[in-house]
Order: sequence, then structure tokens, then C-alpha cells
Amino acid sequence: MSKDAIWAKLQEMLNSGIDDATKANNMDELNHVKKQYLGKKGAVQAQMRYMKELNSAEKPEFGAKINEIKASLEKAFFDAEQALQDMALSCDLSRKLDLTLPGRRKSAGTEHPLRKVQREIENIFLQMGFEIARGPQAEWDYFNFEALNFPPDHPARDMQDTLVLKNGALLRTHTSPVQIRTMLSYEPPIRIIAPGAVYRRDDDITHSPLFHQIEGLHIEKGLHLGHLKGILQLFAQRLFGCHTQIRLRPSFFPFTEPSVEIDIGCIFCKQAGCRICKQSGWIEILGAGMVDPKVLEACHIDAEEWTGWAFGIGIERVAMLLHGISDIRLFFESDRRFLSNFA
Ligand code: DAH
Repeated sequence: MSKDAIWAKLQEMLNSGIDDATKANNMDELNHVKKQYLGKKGAVQAQMRYMKELNSAEKPEFGAKINEIKASLEKAFFDAEQALQDMALSCDLSRKLDLTLPGRRKSAGTEHPLRKVQREIENIFLQMGFEIARGPQAEWDYFNFEALNFPPDHPARDMQDTLVLKNGALLRTHTSPVQIRTMLSYEPPIRIIAPGAVYRRDDDITHSPLFHQIEGLHIEKGLHLGHLKGILQLFAQRLFGCHTQIRLRPSFFPFTEPSVEIDIGCIFCKQAGCRICKQSGWIEILGAGMVDPKVLEACHIDAEEWTGWAFGIGIERVAMLLHGISDIRLFFESDRRFLSNFA
């Protein structure tokens, strides 16, 4: 065979080697192809048979050519291997289950800001010897109004309009009925606070149809307005800071006589006057008063022997003051961007 013919054979083998390498569908097939060409009994080795057909000047040229072909095949096999790996990776990545993604974190819930404030207020009174009492949210008119000295057609009821249920019960408009239930169930002395949800026909940026109050009731012998003032002063200092001032303003509630509204010295401007206290230096935070003897009597407590004072405070209002929140609806929207501020 002539040199040219041999060179042509070599080229033909190289071409088919490259061709076979690119056709391999996986590493097993590719390894098989490699062996077919570069193995001890492979195609390249088989070409050595042409050696003897060449003259001594052509032999080294042939050797060089064989080496060149080996290198080209090795390169072709390397490229084919890379292509298979790339394909495997892209198959992997296109799968629905992507194990390289970070796991989905389950974030633990946090206590709601209203619950936090409720707990803070509760703790202050628990430390002063008060106990926690509870009552139903669907309440009878008798406990919500009548026993609290709201006569049936009294205009004070209009301020506390609510929903009436089919069985005639209503959604309680305040936590004060728990006072009645407690006095009917326990002998004085009594010292309780009653936290819980209440309902009113109110809906704007500072009023929600569902909101929360904490009621307080203290019945003992010889209590007077000074006790009310002393305890609520201490309470205000514990909740809003030790320099907090309080003042009592005359007010009206059917179930207390006298009735007062309690203001704290504005915690934002230190009483210099600002937008929040409407330049007055004072912010209203709760209603209170000495329990009206008619209420004690409705609960079979001798008003000659026992006296008491009571208060009611809105939890949302306190939380809004403490955290500088201007829209009450934020508490009820369950927006985690808002709630996570209180984590
Ligand atoms: N129940 C009243 C309200 O919801 C708040 C209140 C005022 C409660 C005076 C009291 C009290 O116990 O003594 O507006």
C-alpha cells in the first residue's frame, strides 16, 4: 500500500473514532469506544501493521502521525466526556426536585403585641395581689347593663351599641359584667382583674368593633378614692415609666359614684404639649370610680360594710401609645411586616 493510501486509512480511523465518541450516550458506551480505539488490541494499535510497508525514511513520519492521531482521539474522548457530564448536570437541574435549593424555613410565631401589653398589665396587678377573673363574651343584658345600673332606656346604653344574638344575649360591650359575675360568685374581700375581648358598633382608625379591655375591681372594708388613686398611680408608673404623673377628672359611669377619667402626663412631650396630647400635656388612659352602692346591692354585698373601686382600661389604646401606632386596624390585619416588629 502506498504511503498516501496508509495516511488516508489513518485519517479514516480518526474520523470514525471521533464520530463514535460523539455518538456515545453515556460513560459506559464512551469507555467502550475508548477501549476500541486506544486499548491494547484497539484500532490504533492495529495500524502498526502498516509500519512494515514503509521505508526507513517514512517510518518516523508514520510514528509521529500515529501519535498525532492518538492525541486527537484523546481530545475527542475528553470532549465527549465533558459533553456527557454537562448533559447529566442540565438534566439534574431541570428536575422538579432541586436538592440544591435551601430548605423552607418555618418561622416560629411570636406573641401578638396586644397579648404582650395585656400580659404586662396583668403582671403589674398580679404583683399587687389581684387575681385574674374571666367572663363570657356573649353576655346577658342583665350583667352587661342592668346590674351595672344602666336602666333599660338610659342614654348611656347608646354609647355602647352592639350585636344582639338570636337567643337574646348580646356581645358584651365592656368587661364590667365580670365585676357582677365575680361579686355574685365570691364573698368580699375581692381583688380581681378581668381581661378580654369586647364589642361595639364603632369602626375608625382608633376604634375597632372588636377590642380588648382589662377590668379591675377591688372590694374591701374602708376603701376610698385615695386607694384608687394610689394603686392607679403606681400602675401608670410601672407601665409608662417611673416619672409618669396621673390626674383624675370627674366623669360619669352608671356603675361608679363618683366616676373619674384618669389621664397620664403626656409621655411623648413630657407635658410640654404636642400633637398626641393635643397640646394639653395629658392623655386619657382609663375610666374608674368608686363602685356605686346600687351595684354592690345588686350583688348582695352590704354597701354599709364594704366599699370598692373599679377601673376599665383599653388594651389597644395602651399598645398604640406605647408603640406609637396611629391606626388600630394594624393589630387585626395579621400582616407579618407589622407583627415582626414585636418579635
Ligand atoms: N366599662 C367602662 C367602658 O367600657 C370602663 C370603666 C369605667 C370600667 C369605670 C370601670 C369603671 O370599672 O369603674 O367604657
